[in-house]
Amino acid sequence: MTDTTEQMLRAATESLMYVVTRPEQVMVRGKGSYLWDANDNRYLDFIQGWAVNCLGHCPAPLVRAINQQAKRLLNGSPALLNDQMIATASLLTRNSCLDKVWFGNSGAEVNEGAVKLARKYGSVKLNGAHEIITTRNSFHGRTLGMMSASGKAGWDQLFEPKVPGFKHVDFNDLAATRAAVTDRTCAIMLEPVQGEAGVNVGTQDYIAGLRALCDEKGILLILDEIQTGIGRTGKLFGYEHYGIEPDIMTLGKGLGGGFPVAAFLAREHVCVFEAGDQGGTYGGQPLAMAAAGAVLSQMIDKNIPERARKRGNSLKRKLKALGKETGLTNIRGLGLLQAVDLPHDRGADVVAAAFDRGLLINAPKPTSLRFMPALTVTDKEIDEMLGILRDCLSVVA
Ligand SMILES: Cc1ncc(COP(=O)(O)O)c(C=O)c1O
Repeated sequence: MTDTTEQMLRAATESLMYVVTRPEQVMVRGKGSYLWDANDNRYLDFIQGWAVNCLGHCPAPLVRAINQQAKRLLNGSPALLNDQMIATASLLTRNSCLDKVWFGNSGAEVNEGAVKLARKYGSVKLNGAHEIITTRNSFHGRTLGMMSASGKAGWDQLFEPKVPGFKHVDFNDLAATRAAVTDRTCAIMLEPVQGEAGVNVGTQDYIAGLRALCDEKGILLILDEIQTGIGRTGKLFGYEHYGIEPDIMTLGKGLGGGFPVAAFLAREHVCVFEAGDQGGTYGGQPLAMAAAGAVLSQMIDKNIPERARKRGNSLKRKLKALGKETGLTNIRGLGLLQAVDLPHDRGADVVAAAFDRGLLINAPKPTSLRFMPALTVTDKEIDEMLGILRDCLSVVA
C-alpha cells in the first residue's frame, strides 16, 4: 500500500459518513471493462457502477460529448429550454412507445415523479384513486417514498412511518395482483426483471396479464426500467420482450452511461401534471442531456442492444458449462443482466475472493451471484471472468 492510498483512506475515515463497508482499494481510473486502483492494480469490472456504465468505463463518444458540452453551456436554468434537452427528449420518444419525457437526476427521483403522475391521474381521472400495487422483493430506490414502494426484505421496519398508499404482492403472481386491485388503485408498478432481488425475470403471461388487467380496470402500468432499460436486456427497453407497452416508464443508470441522469416517460393521455406539480433545479440540464444524448445515439446507431443479446447468450451458455463443473444452478436473466445460484450461501466470500483476484462481481443474496458487465464486453473478457470465477468457486467450495 502506498502512502498516497494510506492518506486517502485516513481522509475517507475522517470525512465520509459511514453507510457501507468498502474495500480499502481506492479507484482512480477506468477504460472499457477495466478499473484501476491507486496502486495500479487492474480489475475486470462485471458490476460497471451497478449496471450503469453501459458502454464501459470512459467511452470515447460520451467523454467527447461531455467535454464539448462543458465548453458550450453547463447549466442554463430549469425555467428555460435548452437544445440538448429537446434533442434527447425526442430521441427517447422517437425510439420508445411513450410520448412525453421528464428529466431528473437519479432513479429514485424519477420513480417518485412517476408515482406523483399516477396519483395525479388517479385524482383527475379515477375519482381520487391513489393506491399503487408494487411487488415483494422489488427495489425502486432509497427516498422515503421509494423505500415504501419497494418490497425489499427488512425495509418494512426502517425509517418509520412509511409513506402510505403502496400495497405489495408477490412478483409473477397475476392472480394475487388482480385480487389486490380495488377502486382505490390507480396503478401497478414493477420492474420487468427484478434486479436487486437477484434477477427474477417477469414471465410473458404475467407481464402481458398485467397489461390486460390495467386496461380492463382503466389503471396505469408503470414499468421501472432503471436497471432493465437502455439495452441491458438485449432490447433497448425491457418491455419490448413482452410485446406490451407501459403507460409510464422510468429510466436511470444506463441512460447517462456513468453520468447521473434519469427520466420518466408517459403516454400522452397520462400527462396530467399542471404547472408547478413537478420540477427540480438540475432536471434537463445541458451537460446531463448531452451525456444521455450521446449514449442513446451510440445505442441506436451501433445497435448495442443486439450486441448485449448475443454476448448475453454466450455468457449464459458458458455459465451453464461452468455450472456443470462447479454446481452453479438456475442460470437466469435477459441480455447482460444475469444471475446464478451457488451451491452454498457464501456469496460474499466468492465476491471477496474475486476482488482479491482482480474481478468485480456482485452477490445480491448470499446464495447467488449477479453479472452486469458493460454491454460492449467482449467474449475474451467473458472468458477471463469465468476463469477467475472458476478459481474462486473452488477456493470457497
Ligand atoms: C430497478 C431500480 N429502480 C430504482 C433504482 C434506484 O436508482 P438510484 O440509485 O439511481 O436512485 C435502482 C437502483 O439500483 C433500481 O435497480
